[in-house]
Amino acid sequence: MKEIKKIACIGAGYVGGPTMSVIAQKNPHLTVTVVDLNQMRIDAWNSSDLDKLPIYEPGLSSVVSEARGRNLFFSTDVEKAIDEADMIFISVNTPTKTYGKGKGQAADLKYIELCARQIAKIAKTDKIIVEKSTLPVRTAESLKGILDNTGNGVNFDILSNPEFLAEGTAIADLHQPDRVLIGGENSEAIESLVNIYESWVPRERILTTNLWSSELSKLVANAFLAQRVSSINAISELCEQTGANIDEVARAIGQDSRIGSKFLKASVGFGGSCFQKDILNLVYIARSYNLNVVADYWEQVITLNDHQKSRFAENIIQTMYNTVNGKKIAFLGWAFKKDTNDTRESAAIYVADYLLDEEANVVVYDPKVSAEQIYKDLDYLGSRTSEENRRLVKVVDNYFEAINGAHAVAVLTEWDEFKQLDWKNIKLNMQLPAFIFDGRNVLEHLDLAELGFLYKGIGKQ
Ligand code: UDX
Ligand code: UDX
Repeated sequence: MKEIKKIACIGAGYVGGPTMSVIAQKNPHLTVTVVDLNQMRIDAWNSSDLDKLPIYEPGLSSVVSEARGRNLFFSTDVEKAIDEADMIFISVNTPTKTYGKGKGQAADLKYIELCARQIAKIAKTDKIIVEKSTLPVRTAESLKGILDNTGNGVNFDILSNPEFLAEGTAIADLHQPDRVLIGGENSEAIESLVNIYESWVPRERILTTNLWSSELSKLVANAFLAQRVSSINAISELCEQTGANIDEVARAIGQDSRIGSKFLKASVGFGGSCFQKDILNLVYIARSYNLNVVADYWEQVITLNDHQKSRFAENIIQTMYNTVNGKKIAFLGWAFKKDTNDTRESAAIYVADYLLDEEANVVVYDPKVSAEQIYKDLDYLGSRTSEENRRLVKVVDNYFEAINGAHAVAVLTEWDEFKQLDWKNIKLNMQLPAFIFDGRNVLEHLDLAELGFLYKGIGKQ
């Protein structure tokens, strides 16, 4: 087994940052350097004010404060980190392609290739390269090709070690993972990485497989999780028609130990950087092998999710007497789920876009998402000019300003604080009838109808 003393990680994002922080925390004998091209991001990771770390994750700041400066470093000096490292994690983003072949479906691997070329150029000693980014099956082959053909004759072993952490619970997921998956060909290289995780993860939870199983398992895990959300959301629409209650149905089926109770929460639709991207990727791969029935099957998970988001917006319009023109609609939440400031693919963006097409006035309050990010998300869609987005959408930093004088409240993210609001007082400050559209079913226990609200949740009449 090769002894590892220094680790580098390229990409200080939602995956690279927390993962390396925990590896460093649990392995004080290793030096871990996280590098990124983005100077602002690195400065934020190095900020002495731990509230200014670039991502918000419960528990992250205490891990960073324990390890940073001791054996955890954040830097923009990519070359130095590569040169010194025995093991290099690649954790750069792999967005869906926006151009050329596979546009809108395949993963864009240009950053991965750039990393490989840079590593090959700089490396003067043998290295273990670990794919941390989610990648299409057989990417390791391309990586190896680039490294071996452009390198300085040193040896590269490639491992696949996909990350299963969920945002908002990243630190808990890293501290107590259900499993760690390591795929590779060379058993010595695999053992070197097993050894690092064994510092805190029981050996029986560390699974080792061949490279391709590991790469594929990551896509499949996300596809299965997303499929459960789409399945329950499909049934939510049926519940609304039949008088069944989706939360009761979820509880009834979830008690069957074969089905299990997790990931059965009906919602306005799943978001996040992974689910849609990874399914599109799976669909693309299946089509590239001419497995069209397989591809169509998985594509439906996304079709249903898009349907759920537009259905939520249509329901708002229809319920409010078929027009939201000029009406103030308060959005509670913008993040794709609670306890994160991440907004990638958040359902809120698409619901807002739909309502803005109808000239609604949307006022957003999210405890962790900045106004700048919200406008960026809307501008990115290109549905209207950025001036128009700023005219129609206001972002405020407290819930009361959002709700004051509003015709309707729409809950888009399940932040805990929304459950504790003073709904009695809110009612007094809203236009009547006061509508609440609860895209997360987090307020139903409050008996809002009793307070005089017209309340609509997901999957119930
Ligand atoms: C990303 C992917 O979205 C996910 O599929 C994969 O599993 C892991 O990487 P995430 O960490 O959330 O997840 O991405 P992001 O927060 O965008 O971070 C990537 C970082 O890599 C950025 O900070 C970016 O500046 C950096 N980067 C990108 C480089 O340092 N070099 C590059 O060439 C490209
Ligand atoms: C997901 C996977 O869970 C994680 O293993 C992988 O590494 C990355 O992708 P993440 O996107 O951070 O993690 O969040 P997750 O908790 O899976 O939620 C994804 C989306 O599904 C969110 O928008 C969430 O609100 C939604 N969701 C989840 C539901 O609508 N209902 C549910 O029951 C569960």
